[in-house]
Amino acid sequence: MDRKTVADVDIAGKVVLTRVDFNVPLDKATGAITDDTRIVAALATINYLREGGAKVVLCSHLGRPKGTRNTKQSLAPCTEVLGAKLRRPVPFVADCLGPAVAEAVAGMLPGDVILLENTRFYPGEESKEEATMLAFAEQLAAPADMFCNDAFGSSHRQHASVYGVTKFLSPCVAGFLVEKEVTALTRLLSAPEAGLVAVLGGAKVADKIGTIKSLLQKVETLLIGGAMAWAFLKAQGHEIGLSLYDEKSGTAAEELMASMGELVARKLRLPVDMINKQMETGEIRVHPWGDIPEGWSGKDIGPETARQYTEIILKAENVFWNGPMGKFEEKPFDEGTLAVAKAMGGCPGYNVVGGGDSVAAITQMGLADKIDHVSTGGGASLEFLEFGNLPGVEALDKK
Ligand code: 3PG
Repeated sequence: MDRKTVADVDIAGKVVLTRVDFNVPLDKATGAITDDTRIVAALATINYLREGGAKVVLCSHLGRPKGTRNTKQSLAPCTEVLGAKLRRPVPFVADCLGPAVAEAVAGMLPGDVILLENTRFYPGEESKEEATMLAFAEQLAAPADMFCNDAFGSSHRQHASVYGVTKFLSPCVAGFLVEKEVTALTRLLSAPEAGLVAVLGGAKVADKIGTIKSLLQKVETLLIGGAMAWAFLKAQGHEIGLSLYDEKSGTAAEELMASMGELVARKLRLPVDMINKQMETGEIRVHPWGDIPEGWSGKDIGPETARQYTEIILKAENVFWNGPMGKFEEKPFDEGTLAVAKAMGGCPGYNVVGGGDSVAAITQMGLADKIDHVSTGGGASLEFLEFGNLPGVEALDKK
């Protein structure tokens, strides 16, 4: 990576504003953290800073509170989990700027760690007006001596706590998670076209259209699954019954087939069969690729598609996967996704997985240790593959 990391600068005694991505899933009923992967992923940097005598001021967003204070999206529950991992208490500050933070920072000793409240409780964090975003960033940066970005999962956001603060602090460096993620994804982008395979799933083509266009120029094969496949089916003039569909994705699929016809024909693979559900009777049937009968809904890639995709993934020299192949959260429509997870785990080439459902499938199958890199960023990894960089990384100091 061409950006400086915490290991390249002097950190002893410094107040280090450290952006982490503690956007963790919470149990709707109890508010408890249901998956601490993102907290664990930040530990290497936090421990390095602590051991080097820095005063570590952690900030993050959680959820999308849209500029208002919502106690259900407080970062407070993260202090307990983090404290247990660090084996020391992590004081929580119920604000991310102002006197409460200044006071907490003034009381810190080298090696101490504190966690600030959700940056998205303030509208300035995500403001599209640069002056507003920067004014908020300046206040956020005020108590710190330097900035460390270890929030890979948020680095595609040009937000105050990721990007804006770099205008007010120096040095600005990457944490080890950002370094690891960027290195892994750069390796994929530098891989030769022959043998490079990408697998994309999920509901909406529209959300991934930029990545699809960019990947079509880089990969040998792009395998498509999930509800986005139905948008292609419709764009080809087929009936899709009651399948999940949105106009924007349909238009994106049509536009892609029209503008990149040759690459689409040569590289993009769509399912050859699908598993559909009769929405009144609940009957489940495999249909070949083509019209989905009226009253039926496409739910997953079919067994023949799973077999073909598996064969391609197993032969890949480099492979990236993001997005479920079907309605993963509802059995038996998780089978296509689990088949792809199994193939990813069995692929002897360099394999990278990103995105919530894909990572969940890998974990469910016990295959995490068979994957070279499991990304903590869904949207961020896709944007990195599209642009080759991210605003939150580009803003850091060059080596
Ligand atoms: C994520 O969960 O992908 C990141 O934390 C970014 O969250 P966002 O999509 O709400 O910006």
